[in-house]
Amino acid sequence: MAKLTVKDLEVRDRCVFVRVDFNVPLEEKDGQMVITDATRIQETLPTLKLLSERGGKLILASHLGRPKGKREPSMSLRPVAGRLQELLGRPVKFVDDCIGDEVEQAAKAMKAGDVLLLENLRFHKEEEANDPAFAEKLAKPAAVYVNDAFGSAHRAHASTEGAARMVAKRGGPCAAGLLMERELKFLGQELENPARPFLVILGGAKVSDKIQVIDRLLDQADTVLIGGAMAYTFRLAQGFKTGKSLVEADKVEVAKAALAKAARRNVRFLLPVDDLVAVPFKTAKLDKKGKPVIDYRDLRVNTDLNCPDDAAGLDIGPATLKTYSEVVAKARTILWNGPMGLFEDKRFAQGTQGVARAVAEATRKNGAKSIIGGGDSVKALNQARLGDQVTFMSTGGGASLEFLEGRVLPGVAALTDQSPNSP
Ligand code: 3PG
Ligand code: MG
Repeated sequence: MAKLTVKDLEVRDRCVFVRVDFNVPLEEKDGQMVITDATRIQETLPTLKLLSERGGKLILASHLGRPKGKREPSMSLRPVAGRLQELLGRPVKFVDDCIGDEVEQAAKAMKAGDVLLLENLRFHKEEEANDPAFAEKLAKPAAVYVNDAFGSAHRAHASTEGAARMVAKRGGPCAAGLLMERELKFLGQELENPARPFLVILGGAKVSDKIQVIDRLLDQADTVLIGGAMAYTFRLAQGFKTGKSLVEADKVEVAKAALAKAARRNVRFLLPVDDLVAVPFKTAKLDKKGKPVIDYRDLRVNTDLNCPDDAAGLDIGPATLKTYSEVVAKARTILWNGPMGLFEDKRFAQGTQGVARAVAEATRKNGAKSIIGGGDSVKALNQARLGDQVTFMSTGGGASLEFLEGRVLPGVAALTDQSPNSP
């Protein structure tokens, strides 16, 4: 059922608890934590502006990273307050906890339109445990609850679930923010009756991460294109050699079932017909976990469906990119999730960037609706500077996948249903 949204709310002079997903990437520079991508902050601005302009007193809460119940200075939200203030164009007050006296005092001192950002929710272990007493403390100052944190909506945590239930129990409304509403529209309703051909492009390392999504989308899609290391698990299932490519040998039956379902439902299911392969070797450098960093030599295009014994497949090849681009050009609706290769390494980024260009072009030239399901595909589009040339890019990673799998997200379920006779 449709959920109440911020557009339906009366918030003047009321405290609004707004769960946002400000879990942004940070990097240390000269002893300071610097935000390297502010997309998630940017995307909440419409909701925050609407609520502030309507005179709400906004108490914003988010997690950052996985501090596991401890105060971890490198995961403080303080730098986010600074950036938000710039982007919003109004003062943002910061309190260095998310519950307690200081928060209550700050909330009491707020005037209509003011914005307050709380410290990282996950500095308290009760957040992830969805502890009711903690949820009550979070919800204490709030008359209204808003969730604009689509990226965290798959978590049943105190701020995404428990606090909403507490506000609802007191008769307060619990509404979706504008970003949340858009995410649910593009990853949900828009794909229920897609303009056809409906093309799904799936990549990434593992079949196991995507199998639920594949299974569900095989009911709706006309064509599925597969890229990334997960293609090799499918090739293994077909009896080909995969060399040193990343495969999930224990997922071969799962891959076979997907291939059989595609055949049964007449879905065109394409796997790469050529690839860029290279010989992996251990370098003397160690990664963060103390393991040797892997590098690659002897890069070459392989046109055999069998991968050479000494090599790993790391990107789709030129013939595959050509075919995939032609399929993309004919699609009316495109859903893309997951890169075509190890795109973080420039040498293996051509397949992913080529698909990104094809998707952007289909959107621009043919009016195709292109929906990017979050995570690495968003990174790849931004890297290719094509982020603004697709119809929609999700801010979710795990949340987008779970939603595309057809699961009910706890953070959405906790929101108030739109009454049947409201517009
Ligand atoms: C994300 O970036 O995936 C969300 O912010 C959720 O974070 P989590 O995976 O640590 O729960
Ligand atoms: Mg995640």
